[in-house]
Amino acid sequence: MNDPFPSVTRRGLLASSAATLAVSTALSGRAQAATPPSEPAKMPVTITVNGKPHALDLDPRTTLLDTLREHLQLTGTKKGCDHGQCGACTVIVNGERINSCLTLALQHEGDEVTTIEGLGTPGKLHPMQDAFVKHDGYQCGYCTPGQICSAVAMMGEVKRGIPSHVSPQLGAAMRADNMEIRERMSGNICRCGAYSNIAEAIAEVAGA
Ligand code: FES
Ligand code: FES
Repeated sequence: MNDPFPSVTRRGLLASSAATLAVSTALSGRAQAATPPSEPAKMPVTITVNGKPHALDLDPRTTLLDTLREHLQLTGTKKGCDHGQCGACTVIVNGERINSCLTLALQHEGDEVTTIEGLGTPGKLHPMQDAFVKHDGYQCGYCTPGQICSAVAMMGEVKRGIPSHVSPQLGAAMRADNMEIRERMSGNICRCGAYSNIAEAIAEVAGA
């Protein structure tokens, strides 16, 4: 029988396939290098932080946490997990505590944000800051800004009668005991384990 491809050998076919693959890989690499992924257009947002309005142009993917830390240099708010699990990034927005790593800055047009820098100053501490100092409510201090912001907003939740799992029928009066405080603060993790002192500090303010 006549060979339909007299000049094609197995070795020649493999060599030519390898050469084709090398050329196409090089070309596709060059194409990728020539077209870097484009950045989304910046978008304007105005947020009031600690009483001061800030007009910003931001990549729409920027979180509120990164906006505070990297655009406004308010580094008191900490980045722990960046996934909504530790509470280190807690700030107060329109009176409610939120994890700033889980929300985009553009969602906060016109909002009032309070960070740890806005609660008090070294010369005039907020009562909750004062109580944390008095009760040693920290060790390394990394979780502390989030703990304090969370505790301040939590007191507001209690005043508004928002119930918890420990006090499902809670009215305007808070039990202010250890279990209640620990339940309400359970979204704020302290890797140093300063929970007892944190609860004591909050209980003192709650009692007052
Ligand atoms: Fe936001 Fe951990 S950094 S919850
Ligand atoms: Fe260190 Fe809370 S004081 S993580």
